[in-house]
Amino acid sequence: MLGLQWGDEGKGKIVDFVTERADVVVRYCGGANAGHSVVINGQKHSTHLLPVGIFRPGVVNIIGNGVVLDPGALFREIDEFTAKGFSITPQNLLISYKTHLVMPWHILEDAARETGAAGNAIGTTRRGIGPAYADKMQRATAVRVADLADEARLKEKISRIATERSKLLKVLYDAPPVDWRAVFEIYRDHGRRIQPFVTDAGHVLQELIRSGKRVVFEGAHAVLLDVDHGTYPFVTSSNCSGLGVYTGSGAPPNSITNFVGIMKAYTTRVGGGPFPTEQDNDIGNYIRQRGNEYGTTTRRPRRCGWFDAMAVRYSVDLCGVTAVALTLLDVLSGLDHVQICSGYRSGGSRLDYFRADMDTLATVEPIYETLPGWGGNISGCRTFEELPAETQRYVKRLEQLIGAPIRMVSVGPDRTQTIMR
Ligand code: IMP
Repeated sequence: MLGLQWGDEGKGKIVDFVTERADVVVRYCGGANAGHSVVINGQKHSTHLLPVGIFRPGVVNIIGNGVVLDPGALFREIDEFTAKGFSITPQNLLISYKTHLVMPWHILEDAARETGAAGNAIGTTRRGIGPAYADKMQRATAVRVADLADEARLKEKISRIATERSKLLKVLYDAPPVDWRAVFEIYRDHGRRIQPFVTDAGHVLQELIRSGKRVVFEGAHAVLLDVDHGTYPFVTSSNCSGLGVYTGSGAPPNSITNFVGIMKAYTTRVGGGPFPTEQDNDIGNYIRQRGNEYGTTTRRPRRCGWFDAMAVRYSVDLCGVTAVALTLLDVLSGLDHVQICSGYRSGGSRLDYFRADMDTLATVEPIYETLPGWGGNISGCRTFEELPAETQRYVKRLEQLIGAPIRMVSVGPDRTQTIMR
């Protein structure tokens, strides 16, 4: 299940809905920068690291090796949901020993770089994501879940890496030295608590797939935030498109049969980067208020705009999307007309495909199709035919433009406010 835009497509709700018929849910990328919301019986729950299968008894949840794990954030989440009555135990949560850890210096560096970057900031969530993935690739300065099992080795690693990092942070950002003993003690305690959850998750996943279990891969972020295929450098630091599923989980490439894309009925972005269909005006404000478009992780107001079919088609084609879930359709109710970007004009000529490069995106002009809007409250509709004719027309036009069937339409945050087609 993948976000087809720039994140916040309502993946939490759709993954939760599909998980009713799943045995296993796997997170394969990103970290506590993600925020997935699920509404159950009118109550909203937001996860950052835990797969949303924790809300369904009997579902096995896996945090794959492609995730960068902040253990403090994980335990805060586990404590929060345990207090709310959900059961999170080594029976329903497994963590790969290969998963890399977010360390305090990653968070420090992320924040210091963003603060110092002024006009060149990426607008990150400041959760240490970029520096943690950078250390994973660097190797010598990385700490993995596996390292938490051996306290003597952990101590040696933390003291060595913290000493090196303190020198760098001092030179670059005039930061005070990291107290490596304090960090060691915190991570040693996290390590003791995490051990029962740690396993060879890739191997377990392969066994589950072989035995015919139904596995949902819960994408975080979105295709256009993928470090390789997204709108670089305004992306996150993982392969959060469908192409990262295999490396991030250990699932064999021939094991996945459906790639479900999730997109909202309009477009939003948090953080920097070009956004051709942005509406920095009354339309954007209308969408932001009705869609409650404020970050789940950071509460930042999201930038809002019309649906960009060029961008979504790029994501559909890149990931071989087989079916689409359309979310937040109810947010657009009450507008006189709605617009869809069906092409771009670039340097005087028409560009009929999306290029994820900044130079192009910063200068293109969207070409819009205008359709009639619809009034009334559609959040009570439970079949496609109950929707106003104008709403049906909008959905069918989106479907034609993106080149994939819209199988599911969400008209409200609750599990029940979902139309299957
Ligand atoms: P980072 O992932 O914190 O490094 O942030 C990099 C960029 O990705 C920023 O523009 C963030 O706002 C964006 N981003 C990261 N995760 C999400 C998400 O789950 N939803 C929306 N945007 C995200």
